[in-house]
Amino acid sequence: MIRRVAPVVVSALIVVSCSSGIGEFDQSVTGSDPSTTDPSTTGTSTTDPSTTGASANATSTTPERETVTTTSTTRPDDVDAAPAEAVRVGGQSVGDPYYPELGNTGYDVSNYRLDLTIDTAGIDTLLGVATIDLSGTEPVSTFSFDLVGLTVESVTIDGREVEFDQTPTKLVVESDRPLTVGTTDVVEITYSGTPMPFDSGTRIGPIGWFDTVAVSVAVGEPSGARTWYPVNDHPTDKATYLFRLDVPEGLLGVANGVLTERSTENGRTVTQWEMRQPMASYLATVSVGDYQLIDSEPGAGVEVADAVPTRLVDVFEGDFGLTDEMLVVFTDLFGPYPFDEYGVLVADADFPFALETQGRSLFSGGFVDGDGSIERIVAHELAHQWFGNHVSPETWVDIWLNEGFATYAEDLWLEFGRGVGLGQLETRLAVRATEAPAPAPGDPGPGDLFAPSVYRRGGATLHALRLELGDDTFFELLRTWLDRFGGGVASTDDFVALAEELSGEELDGFFDSWLGAGPIPAFSG
Ligand code: TRP
Ligand code: ZN
Repeated sequence: MIRRVAPVVVSALIVVSCSSGIGEFDQSVTGSDPSTTDPSTTGTSTTDPSTTGASANATSTTPERETVTTTSTTRPDDVDAAPAEAVRVGGQSVGDPYYPELGNTGYDVSNYRLDLTIDTAGIDTLLGVATIDLSGTEPVSTFSFDLVGLTVESVTIDGREVEFDQTPTKLVVESDRPLTVGTTDVVEITYSGTPMPFDSGTRIGPIGWFDTVAVSVAVGEPSGARTWYPVNDHPTDKATYLFRLDVPEGLLGVANGVLTERSTENGRTVTQWEMRQPMASYLATVSVGDYQLIDSEPGAGVEVADAVPTRLVDVFEGDFGLTDEMLVVFTDLFGPYPFDEYGVLVADADFPFALETQGRSLFSGGFVDGDGSIERIVAHELAHQWFGNHVSPETWVDIWLNEGFATYAEDLWLEFGRGVGLGQLETRLAVRATEAPAPAPGDPGPGDLFAPSVYRRGGATLHALRLELGDDTFFELLRTWLDRFGGGVASTDDFVALAEELSGEELDGFFDSWLGAGPIPAFSG
């Protein structure tokens, strides 16, 4: 579902030079000292990447970056008048200022059905059939998907075999006839290979498909989905998903959404998972491992089903036992939980961050020992289901709308769920923001997408806003934001405009000073 068109082509061209920096990142801040990956040694807010190390044991293969294709989307709409001009080519960028190589134009995906046969003995192999329901937004006959490191065997459109081509980062489909604007066509892509991670160029380090000894798991944010399926890999094209995972008996495939089928036959276990609400591609995940599915009592009317490695089942409750109460507090503050079901996926691997994969947040097994020390992270990833997942960033420049909000929600949980005094929380918010004032949370740059300032100064911005507007208007703003933009994407400008609309105040100056890189304003209110 395409919600909005991101910045114009001209701005995408200007930032191409920035993208050359994507491959570099500061190794010094992502040291692999395993002690820094232990949440218990890193203070309480371990979701902040500055306090944790990046995974050092993943293979990094950075896909070649392509120059933005700008030639094809600017033809006149009036194709009837010029039949010779009728062959239209979809663009290979949605114009994200930080990631001009991501996404494709000319169509809008409504559903991905991913039939994945996954073998994990030795190195992982993937055999995939992606059935993609899409409709043309232009009558393009050539259009592309993002796909890295896998080989396409065949492509059909509505059952007709069509030509295709692959570059290091794109699958280009050449149809024999243009997509009809507004009606659904079904593109079926058969592909295979060994999915691999690549370096994200952010502090997070490698993203994509990880193949560790105990588990295989896909981590997408911001652009790793394309390592395991052909996808319009940008939040502006959200879609629903159906996953069918065929894995060796004894293991279990887990994905986003609700489990709707499970069977074992001839040495293979097949599970089917459905995410029925629109999802941004970076929030899709699949994992294969020795999982137990644990259903717990519904909290706040939300079904909870967790996927936990067998060896961690006994300690699981010690770290995640507060989820039901958190659901009560957050539904009260933010409004209804936006998906059919919640749960976590604890992957038995040692990566140093948690990720808010939609409907089922992903945690590293290395975080889980039952001592309760990851309470803030548990709250953080849950809060992302509203902020980041239900309302997603329109471009990656808007990342503070995810991380600032989820970070502030940790404090809201402590205040409303744990009775921690506001004064105490406020002091900590101010201190931590002051420790990490830059880069500007409102425009951190692609390499600093997950910089501490995005989390801390971004979170403090919301507290300052609450003091400025008062509790009633502030929480009304959060709920209206989710109501108005839920299921799609929104930008910082949208947030500022809504805050101004609801408060009647002029807030440009407020947001400029809080979301910039200058001195951090004092809390006042
Ligand atoms: N969004 C994550 C958080 O909750 C951080 C993150 C970004 C991440 N990309 C990732 C975690 C990839 C794991 C893998 O703060
Ligand atoms: Zn986060």
